[in-house]
Amino acid sequence: MTDPDRTVGVAIIGAGSIADGSHLPAIRDQGAEIQVLAVVDVDLERARSFAERWQIPAAYGDIDQMLREAAPDLAIICTPPIAHRDAVVACLDAGVWVWCEKPPTLSLAEYDEIAAHEAEGGPYVSYVFQHRFGSGARALREHIRTGRLGNPLVGICHTLWYRDDRYYRVPWRGRWSTEGGGPTMGHGIHQMDLMLSLLGEWTEVRAASGTLARGIETEDVSMAIVRFASGAMVSMVNSVLSPRETSYLRFDFPEATVELTHLYGYDNANWRWTPAPHRADDTPADLGAPEDNEASSHAAQLRYLLDDLRRGRRPEASGDDGRRVLAFIAALYASAATGLPVTPGQITPDDPFYHSMSGHKENAHA
Ligand SMILES: NC(=O)c1ccc[n+]([C@@H]2O[C@H](COP(=O)([O-])OP(=O)(O)OC[C@H]3O[C@@H](n4cnc5c(N)ncnc54)[C@H](O)[C@@H]3O)[C@@H](O)[C@H]2O)c1
Repeated sequence: MTDPDRTVGVAIIGAGSIADGSHLPAIRDQGAEIQVLAVVDVDLERARSFAERWQIPAAYGDIDQMLREAAPDLAIICTPPIAHRDAVVACLDAGVWVWCEKPPTLSLAEYDEIAAHEAEGGPYVSYVFQHRFGSGARALREHIRTGRLGNPLVGICHTLWYRDDRYYRVPWRGRWSTEGGGPTMGHGIHQMDLMLSLLGEWTEVRAASGTLARGIETEDVSMAIVRFASGAMVSMVNSVLSPRETSYLRFDFPEATVELTHLYGYDNANWRWTPAPHRADDTPADLGAPEDNEASSHAAQLRYLLDDLRRGRRPEASGDDGRRVLAFIAALYASAATGLPVTPGQITPDDPFYHSMSGHKENAHA
């Protein structure tokens, strides 16, 4: 599809909370650019009531039937992680572009298997990493690229959230085989993806993890020290045990400290730009704080994706760019399990952490 004005026909796969709370509002935000053609859920009743609530013309219990009958241009996959791979592959094989919720897949093996179903010029699959797309992140990425604030030196990447035992009663949560991991994979992935998208190539991770308080199979906290090719060192924490919740990223440069404090999304008011002492009189604008104020949101990422889809261009957060955070997480889990530092490229197909984030074959999704 290379017509820049054509309305994009969309199908929703998985009619649960993220579809309801984030995707449909983001779609409505695009106005006439999108027409929602169909919704699919294994629970057909759920698909029907979702369709009624959002005035979607067709509801299905089966993805293949929907693909044949509704023929969407784009499928948005909002199923639990264990169902991502099969849904993405079915859509790509039908020539349909995909925007799939995080975590992209349960393992690097699944990610690479899916990538083989893409084609040059589309269809592509892009993954939901909405925090990359706010104006604060875009401005900072550009400053790091041009060296405006000097080389990044010290960083903090904290996802300190709280999820109680009730949250983990949902059967797919807290298990390696269905969720792919604990807060590292399911929650901190957003902050880590943003950190990696800003700081670029990492060179080593040393990590530890524990299951301290929840009755789950995966970790409920992980910590890591990460070195980057730029020389920067970053401290990371991913927790679901933290009653005062925050998502906190911090970057110390020779010229300034730049901080982002939010929970599930931000706009410019969540960023703080502090000059180094030798620039004490500089304002945030002098340091490069953006003038436009685009919030991080599903709507922001969707806008970029629609543009790429219409132009037949590989979108952000797809291919190697979507794989980066997953490869990093596999390395983090491998380091936590072995007690050894792990470097990029170490988790190859002959490594158990390539097939399951737990490093155990029995958790790999056949
Ligand atoms: N980007 C974000 O900020 C964010 C936030 C929360 C959740 N998520 C992600 O969104 C996804 C869904 O999470 P949720 O909280 O909405 O889950 P949910 O359990 O509320 O909804 C999932 C829905 O998918 C349906 N489903 C399961 N298997 C299916 C299949 N094979 N085909 C069709 N439908 C199927 C279920 O019946 C259910 O209705 C997960 O990957 C989760 O990690 C992302």
